[in-house]
Amino acid sequence: MSRPDTVIVLAAGQGTRMKTGWAKVMAPLCGRPLIAWVLDQALALEPRRVLVVVGYRADEVRKAVEKHPAGGATIECVLQDEQRGTGHAVQCCLPQLADARGPVVLLYGDMPLLATDSLKALCETQVGTANGMALLTARPRDPRGFGRIVRGAGGAVQRIVEEKDADAATRAIDEVNLGVYCFDAALLRDALPKLQPNNAQRELYVTDVVASFVAAGRAARAVEVADEREAIGINTLKHLAEARTALQERILDEHLARGVYIEDPSTTFIDHGVKIGAATTIEPCTVIRAGAVIGERCHVGPFAHIGPDTTLDDGAEIGNFVETKRSRIGAKTKAKHLAYIGDGRIGARCNIGAGTIFANYDGKTKSITTVHDGAFVGSGSVLVAPCEIGAGAYTGAGAVVTRNSRVEPGAVWVGVPARPLARRDANPAEVRKDSHKA
Ligand code: UD1
Ligand code: CA
Repeated sequence: MSRPDTVIVLAAGQGTRMKTGWAKVMAPLCGRPLIAWVLDQALALEPRRVLVVVGYRADEVRKAVEKHPAGGATIECVLQDEQRGTGHAVQCCLPQLADARGPVVLLYGDMPLLATDSLKALCETQVGTANGMALLTARPRDPRGFGRIVRGAGGAVQRIVEEKDADAATRAIDEVNLGVYCFDAALLRDALPKLQPNNAQRELYVTDVVASFVAAGRAARAVEVADEREAIGINTLKHLAEARTALQERILDEHLARGVYIEDPSTTFIDHGVKIGAATTIEPCTVIRAGAVIGERCHVGPFAHIGPDTTLDDGAEIGNFVETKRSRIGAKTKAKHLAYIGDGRIGARCNIGAGTIFANYDGKTKSITTVHDGAFVGSGSVLVAPCEIGAGAYTGAGAVVTRNSRVEPGAVWVGVPARPLARRDANPAEVRKDSHKA
């Protein structure tokens, strides 16, 4: 594979068409910001470095960029003070580009669906142009307001015309610019300073570089993407929803391929990076958030909310209207109905009865509730954190275990506030039997 020297990612724009005031590249997309998806695309090409052009709400974007694992590349942010167009944004990288030792790829921060194979094909094609450039195009049913690819009589790409600057005949062209390019570095450095804001938006368009390459006698070769969905770019909230649906499908397909039975993919939400073991069943209307790790042969849903940083060990079962958050749930432990498990450390083979609440928040701090192996938490129990339920211990229905309580292993606590049941040799198994008689 031919690796680019530098990948530039444009992420300085506000995204006015979103109407949210967010930095567009910080828009949430399956559990992480839009920019993270694009950085992964850039890094998949194994470049020497990635330059991210930041501007609007730059500090926030910079933080997200710094948090991103860079692999073997270096990632550097470049500030574009004032957003004067995509051409101006790339001009801001000219000082860094002075030492470029190979091709330069340009990506826009709002195109999260591009496939690595398409980007690799782009780089291969650029190598074949003998110091020219290559660009990705598509022929989607809806041109999405994208720039149109104008080809000459022989079929060679001549230039790109933005929809706002296009006449009716140009608008009728069905081939559009995806905003992904691979350039010879020296020619890009020559072309950038010559850009002029002679267009409807009075901006510097990087798309005008194409005509410069052609004028210099170099080829600009188009590579058409295989899947129309790769053309989903995010300019509006409607586009964001569209992209989320498409990325969600990719995530679910990967889990299905690894043996996770997702009964109804259309009502299942699973964030990026969630790990799920084989032979686990996910029933409909379930939401699984980033940072969750689910073992093998687990059962989740229907209507379950596996919140951030939940771990389910093998064979655990989380059922209807149960929410978990920052919790570990041991092997074969069950919480089947109507419970909130926050900051819980639950051992193996426990039963968390219907309606149990882990009261983890006292208005100021969040504390941990520990439930040891084999404990039986009765229906409607409230466990006020921090507290601990010993191995094989039992709480009666409706028990309120107050903060700093420690239920001894094998003990039975009942009532409000919960107290040990005044019964010698209270054996949870017997109590359980008795309770059935009632
Ligand atoms: C751009 C292309 C268009 C293409 C489309 C595909 C130009 C002039 N037009 O239009 O041909 O079909 O993308 O996605 O390039 N940005 C900056 N600084 C700026 C302006 C923009 O960093 O001064 C960033 C934005 O944050 C965004 C990206 O560049 O990530 C593209 O800008 P956007 O305004 O969305 O361009 P489009 O109108 O979509
Ligand atoms: Ca765009």
